[in-house]
Amino acid sequence: MMPQTTIGKTDVRTSKLGMGTNKVGSQNFDPQLKDADGLAAVQAAIDHGVTMLDTAYMYGLGHSEEVIAQAIRPYDRQTLTLATKAAHVPGNPTTYDNAPAFLRQAVDDALMRLGTDYLDVFYIHFPDDHTDKAEAVNALADMRRAGKLRAIGVSNFSLAQLQEANQDGQVDIVEDHYSLVHREAERELFPYLRANQISFVPYFPLAAGLLTGKYTVDPGGRFARFGDFGHIQSGLATVRQIATTHAATIAQVLLAWYMANPDITVVIPGARNAAQAIQNAAAQDVVLSQAEYRVIDQAF
Ligand SMILES: NC(=O)c1ccc[n+]([C@@H]2O[C@H](COP(=O)([O-])OP(=O)(O)OC[C@H]3O[C@@H](n4cnc5c(N)ncnc54)[C@H](OP(=O)(O)O)[C@@H]3O)[C@@H](O)[C@H]2O)c1
Repeated sequence: MMPQTTIGKTDVRTSKLGMGTNKVGSQNFDPQLKDADGLAAVQAAIDHGVTMLDTAYMYGLGHSEEVIAQAIRPYDRQTLTLATKAAHVPGNPTTYDNAPAFLRQAVDDALMRLGTDYLDVFYIHFPDDHTDKAEAVNALADMRRAGKLRAIGVSNFSLAQLQEANQDGQVDIVEDHYSLVHREAERELFPYLRANQISFVPYFPLAAGLLTGKYTVDPGGRFARFGDFGHIQSGLATVRQIATTHAATIAQVLLAWYMANPDITVVIPGARNAAQAIQNAAAQDVVLSQAEYRVIDQAF
């Protein structure tokens, strides 16, 4: 049975295990991606109890949202939690904008592409360097009052930018880089989030695939940003032993660890096809003992 959770101080309820969709309709990142695979991945996730779908304008420059719109058509919209993000300026995607007028347009455009009249979560995807963050969040709060979105999120903000954004207590959820091999958020961010009842969603929970254990060599230094490759492999060997006792995969055991972590609200592993989505959703059935949780906590 899929565990459920609540976002921040809102009444948005969702599955603790979600799905990241930067490999759904995101041909700008990977031209080999096929829409049919992305659509099947989203539907497989939903069919296995996942209700939180995490997308962004930047994934396919709106196309990920369009593929998701198609994928969710057969389902009851109210049972799903649609989270999207924007900040990249269309036509100039290396530039960010958080101005109220930009955010209003970004929300309306996302609603149109997703084929819905409300977003469950809207994140400012990246901070720009010129908009007052409280002003940006106030614009989102206006849209919340208008019924266009239900929860306000920010992503890739420094702690100082988050504090500025949350000065009226209106931020509900933060999405940032965090995984067992990238734990900086624990020092300052997590205590702030706890104190302010803000939810946390880690991105790259599987270190972009490295933590599945399937990569035994680093193709072209692709994983260098996640730390020492040899050290991570020895951590994975420890996790593999626990996975074997659960008749589970390494990825499933690690996803179970994130689900059991009290600082994490929803975990959103990415999947490029239905097979990956189904395997990831099955992590809901893995229950770790406290001892196993501690071993994984120390494994890397
Ligand atoms: N807010 C932000 O700025 C930001 C930034 C990055 C990501 N995100 C979000 O966070 C989500 C998660 O991050 P991510 O998808 O980049 O990385 P991730 O969840 O750490 O890893 C996902 C990748 O691991 C591999 N994988 C996943 N499940 C697997 C399975 N069962 N078996 C084998 N391989 C599997 C796939 O890649 P391969 O098949 O290529 O190995 C998949 O694309 C994204 O989808 C996106 O929604 C947000």
